[in-house]
Amino acid sequence: MGISHHECLHQHTFELKPILEQLGLNGWVCQDNFLEEDVIDSLLSYLDILLSNELMQPAAIGHGQRLKLHKSIRLSHTCWIDDWSFSEGLVYTRLLLEKLQNSLNQYFFLSLKRFESQLASYPIGGYYKKHLDQIKGRGHRQVSLIIYLNDCDSGGELVLFDKDDKTKKVIEIKPKKGRCVIFFSSQVYHEVLPTHYSRFSFTTWFRDDLWEI
Ligand code: OGA
Ligand code: NI
Repeated sequence: MGISHHECLHQHTFELKPILEQLGLNGWVCQDNFLEEDVIDSLLSYLDILLSNELMQPAAIGHGQRLKLHKSIRLSHTCWIDDWSFSEGLVYTRLLLEKLQNSLNQYFFLSLKRFESQLASYPIGGYYKKHLDQIKGRGHRQVSLIIYLNDCDSGGELVLFDKDDKTKKVIEIKPKKGRCVIFFSSQVYHEVLPTHYSRFSFTTWFRDDLWEI
């Protein structure tokens, strides 16, 4: 990345407007090349450091006292991002997510105030059964965003269900380096099919609260 992050931000190859329009129509949208190769590689090297220092934790389901490790629902490892200044890739990604948060607020009249992000690593045979990202009665996650950091030629597809009929599959999305999927956290049920390859992703939830109670 030779130029400054702010200059970089004006250079992405996609337009935000059509993304927001699709999201409004279907409740979800898929965009390729959301992050450029060098940014992804920077995120991957951070993930590498986390993995080799055993900082990736078995993913937990739920919240607070109900937080459980639940192998029947999910098999993957995750780590929350808390030091966004750790690498150029993280700095750039945060700027892009801030810009997207502003656009989501304007376009959908939302009041998103912050986002939380994690790196996720699914081993071969990993999965995440059908679920909703917004926990009932704790409706602060409004928009979910997943960026894929590597290709999976088979397995590990993200299945999305219709926002108006949660039994109806609408699409299976293959993880592909740089691909991004965005959906409304309270509307779109989704599932990660069993993986045949290691699967690395960067997941973000845009929230409308300032802090957890
Ligand atoms: C999640 C999730 C989907 C994916 O982390 O809640 O559904 O494709 N991830 O990684
Ligand atoms: Ni999910």
